[in-house]
Amino acid sequence: MPARLKNYICFALFCGLLLAEGCKKNSSSSTQSVVATLKASAPFPMGSAVTSNGILSNYYYQGVLLTEYNSMTADYEMKFDITEPQQDVFNYAPGDALVNFAAQHHFRMHGHNFIWHQALPPWVLTFQGDTSAWESLFKTHIETEAIHYKGKVASWDVVNEAIRDDNGQLRNRDATPGDGSGSIWRQHLGPDYIARAFVYAHEADPNALLFYNDYGQEWGGVKLDSMISLVTGLKKRGIPISGIGMQMHIDINADTTGIASALKRLAATGLLVHVSELDISVNPGADPNIVFTSALQVKQAALYQFIAETYRASVPAAQRYGITTWEFSDADSWIPVFFNRKDWPLPFDAAYKKKPAYYGLLRGLTN
Ligand code: G3I
Repeated sequence: MPARLKNYICFALFCGLLLAEGCKKNSSSSTQSVVATLKASAPFPMGSAVTSNGILSNYYYQGVLLTEYNSMTADYEMKFDITEPQQDVFNYAPGDALVNFAAQHHFRMHGHNFIWHQALPPWVLTFQGDTSAWESLFKTHIETEAIHYKGKVASWDVVNEAIRDDNGQLRNRDATPGDGSGSIWRQHLGPDYIARAFVYAHEADPNALLFYNDYGQEWGGVKLDSMISLVTGLKKRGIPISGIGMQMHIDINADTTGIASALKRLAATGLLVHVSELDISVNPGADPNIVFTSALQVKQAALYQFIAETYRASVPAAQRYGITTWEFSDADSWIPVFFNRKDWPLPFDAAYKKKPAYYGLLRGLTN
């Protein structure tokens, strides 16, 4: 093995040991006082996407959630395919499990989401009707769910991922027929469906904070430009938008300059900024033989730390809606399943134990 590589590995292991030592010292020194937690350390809400399955039948899951977090986002239970499986037939039981848990344990509940081009039930995908029939089903869905959760859900992702990655235009037709990248809502309701979704949600629950949620802001370019002109345009028109969700599904090679610049530009809109679905893939290249080395763990920890530090530095306190990871344990991440690859993107490992990533995030919240 080349000497240089050997030096690198030794250095990485040394960092890993240092980090572990630091954490031990941190945790040993903090055991003299109260053990530091994410929610106690953060000057804003710390959230996680959660599933009803997790909170109801996994004690490790519940334990970490109750100890470390004070905000919850519905992973899938409040989406169209679950809440209105047939037209005018509503199923709120899965979502109710989440809001009941949130109320019992004094969590902030973030609803996700009213309108998305995915997670749609077959009856919507095959619906045949004129524009007013489409408008009616769209309005009914939003109003009925918002009214059901009124007073139990503090905020909503009203519209999710309406902007194309490649050219910043609103999703409309599928990029290639049947690929699911298009928006049935834009096709049948026109581009201003987004503004109307916010109006309907606000009329149904005037106290809920309302967000536009999307990913890829850290790429900069047309997608971020388009998102900022969308939300500032809505705000200028007096459409009741409260904030923007920056999902931040990123990987270990993310452009930190892009992250910092995006957070600053989103903050400049004056809207609330929610890092809404954070996870950090360590295997974006889908290497089947990848090993989660200490070097990778240290690098992931440093990026979690950077994100928390940069969020605090870039977003004024009054605009920080919080940082939410998309689940919190590698055991529950969507990434290994969706991309069918080995990956360890979250702050807790599959045994719900704190990883170096956890300590990186914790450091970024406090130093
Ligand atoms: O629907 C069943 C439910 O009946 C069953 O009780 C439950 C048992 O665990 O499983 C449910 O199955 C699937 C669920 O994930 C399990 O977590 C749903 O069919 C499946 O559609 C759902 O996938 C979710 C996906 O959104 C679509 O809703 C993923 O968990 C979730 O991670 C993913 O999250 C999206 C965000 O909403 C938007 N941003 C991207 C992010 C990742 O794709």
